[in-house]
Amino acid sequence: MWFGGCWCYRECWVPLIFILCLLWKGNICETVEGFHIETSRTVTVQTSLCVHIPCTFIISNSYTLTQNAKGIWYKDDSVVASKVGFLVPDNPRGRVFLTGDVQKGDCSLSINDAKWSDAGTYRFRIEDGILRFGYIGTKPYVTVTALTEKPDISPIKSLIAGEEVALTCTAPGRCAGTRPTITWEGSINTPAVEDIVLDNPDGNRIYMSNITFTPARKDHTSLLTCKVTYSSDRPRTTSTAISLNVEYPPSLNITIAGVSCYKCYNRSIESRAVTVKEGDSQTMHCAVNGNPQANITWMKGDTIVTSIVSRERLQIELKNISISDAATYRCSAWNQHGNTSRAVDIRVEYPPRRPEISVHGPNGVPLQYVGTDPIVHVPEGSPVSLSCVADSDPPASLQWVKSGQIVGPASPMGQKLQLNLYASDEGIYTCQANNKHGHSNRSITIIMTYKPKAPERYNSSCLRKANLIECVCLIQSFPTASIEWKVNGKSYLSNYTDGNISIVTVQLERVGNSTLTLRRNDGDQQSIQCIGSNANGFLNLQLLEASKENQHWAIMIGVICGVALILLLILAIVLMKHIQKKKPLLMDEHTGGPTVNDSDAIYSNTEITHRTSNGAGMARETQPDDLGPIPEEASTYMNYGEELHYVTIDFSRLKPRAVPAEEEMEYSEVKLK
Ligand SMILES: *[C@@H]1O[C@H](CO)[C@@H](O)[C@H](O)[C@H]1NC(C)=O
Ligand SMILES: *[C@@H]1O[C@H](CO)[C@@H](O)[C@H](O)[C@H]1NC(C)=O
Ligand SMILES: *[C@@H]1O[C@H](CO)[C@@H](O)[C@H](O)[C@H]1NC(C)=O
Ligand SMILES: *[C@@H]1O[C@H](CO)[C@@H](O)[C@H](O)[C@H]1NC(C)=O
Ligand SMILES: *[C@@H]1O[C@H](CO)[C@@H](O)[C@H](O)[C@H]1NC(C)=O
Ligand SMILES: *[C@@H]1O[C@H](CO)[C@@H](O)[C@H](O)[C@H]1NC(C)=O
Repeated sequence: MWFGGCWCYRECWVPLIFILCLLWKGNICETVEGFHIETSRTVTVQTSLCVHIPCTFIISNSYTLTQNAKGIWYKDDSVVASKVGFLVPDNPRGRVFLTGDVQKGDCSLSINDAKWSDAGTYRFRIEDGILRFGYIGTKPYVTVTALTEKPDISPIKSLIAGEEVALTCTAPGRCAGTRPTITWEGSINTPAVEDIVLDNPDGNRIYMSNITFTPARKDHTSLLTCKVTYSSDRPRTTSTAISLNVEYPPSLNITIAGVSCYKCYNRSIESRAVTVKEGDSQTMHCAVNGNPQANITWMKGDTIVTSIVSRERLQIELKNISISDAATYRCSAWNQHGNTSRAVDIRVEYPPRRPEISVHGPNGVPLQYVGTDPIVHVPEGSPVSLSCVADSDPPASLQWVKSGQIVGPASPMGQKLQLNLYASDEGIYTCQANNKHGHSNRSITIIMTYKPKAPERYNSSCLRKANLIECVCLIQSFPTASIEWKVNGKSYLSNYTDGNISIVTVQLERVGNSTLTLRRNDGDQQSIQCIGSNANGFLNLQLLEASKENQHWAIMIGVICGVALILLLILAIVLMKHIQKKKPLLMDEHTGGPTVNDSDAIYSNTEITHRTSNGAGMARETQPDDLGPIPEEASTYMNYGEELHYVTIDFSRLKPRAVPAEEEMEYSEVKLK
């Protein structure tokens, strides 16, 4: 019962009906006794749409409606619709018509394709034989408004990219009026559209359109519009737009601040190498586009660094980058529709580390540092190679520097750099390593070792004083030589004292200065040697040579004695013959031997005028490789005419290799007793 709470029946008492009907707002109750109509007081219809105005009426119970009862609706005194009984309306194609069975008291009215002109007051009249009654007190008022009702699009749901979907647009109004045109507008590709008309049992129709398409991810948030156009009168359009929610698997981009991303997104480039500098900081962004939003993870190698649920981006920051940060970093994103990932190879470059130096002697034997400092001792004259390597990325250029000067070749590509040294290349060698990120260096000190030798400009010598012999022995060497004295074949260490001998040794830098003081007993023949030795060899300086002098002296004495004997014999014979004639002679007192002046006689190995730089003008050197006595070729000169004997010895055949051959030695004085 459409009129709900208004209990208006034929049996109603008029006052009751009146009161009840007044209570029901919006309806007009006919108050003439026995006659009554129920309908909407006001009705609103939008242009182009339709409206159904339900209506029932009753007549006085003294009448009964026949089959021929005719219902008539007037608007502004002109008939707009009429109908007899339950037959078809008089104007079946008209826009306004009676829908109900008049005989049964149904006066319902429909207006299709409403026009502005449909607005107004409508009244109903019943005619059945002699019964003619106009329900003038109950006149529904129809208001026509602009078309604002929208089509309906369904279903409203998420679409999935790549999966076909069908949507339906239903035109507003359940009418039997003119069929509207339904169109779709949007950016989707190749939709299929189908119009559908649903006929309702009440004669009304529902106009619909189905659209079938396969959404793509680009369609997400794009608009799809259903437009319904009514063109019975002037064309009027109403439309509904929806924003498509297309779900799709995520895609992602990795961006790194300051690193241009040329072809970053090309699918064929799965992994990109990015070079960063040690100590720098770098932020890597992973921008993810997925619907619904994806879960994102950053992994370093196989380890998850950070992850987040349902976001559009996730970044990781590498701070104070070190070599351990070099790795493949992968950003992965997934939602229920799929997953994706991309990776970036982070390469860490760094300035050269401190170079490593190794030193090799002859035959590639490694030489160790002496002590904790990078000092290496190298035997003089033996080849040495210094090798330098420095870890760096990119490879460092290496070079050797000594005293500010580049020595040897350079290595531009970080390979091991070798420097070969030969004799006398003492000094501090620095290996410098450079790349575009910085430089580093390391130094090594090369010290040459050599066997003991006589220092330049200083000579070892012996000096005779009264009843003493004082010998000074100077020996230069590195490492420090131990100095030993041999007196008449007996060895004495460098610091020694007894009644006859005192030895004091002082070491000054690389020169050892040892002084031997020997109490002299007249008649002793002294042989004094000073021997310096270190790991590289030894030097034997013969400062006094008794045995040779004695031999020479004995030979000389022998010769002299022999000659004297012969002379004496001859003299004796001559005298004997002469004595036979004359008186005998006396011997000369002064021929007993040369007198000796003790005060300042010097035994010296002082070199004669021309010296060479090597300072090797020694009295006599005995070397390991040229041991042996003074060769026979050494010429000996004796001057026996004066009180002194001068002996000159030419050592040209037994000098050390470094000593020029022209050099001459001289025992400047050899004193005879
Ligand atoms: C139109 O779409 C609705 C649901 O969207 C569906 O139930 C109906 O079968 C479709 N009609 C045609 C003819 O495709
Ligand atoms: C990745 O980069 C491409 C090209 O710049 C861009 O079209 C796309 O939207 C980006 N994707 C994301 C998730 O940012
Ligand atoms: C960077 O890292 C290095 C080595 O890990 C460290 O010595 C240095 O102090 C760090 N610098 C800063 C600013 O944290
Ligand atoms: C994202 O992560 C959350 C929390 O771990 C989880 O509940 C959800 O299922 C994940 N989503 C997908 C699509 O895997
Ligand atoms: C990503 O997808 C591939 C294949 O589609 C699957 O094998 C893999 O397990 C997925 N990974 C995640 C994290 O969902
Ligand atoms: C070695 O490196 C230090 C520190 O950088 C620098 O001061 C010095 O000058 C360098 N020495 C050489 C020889 O390159």
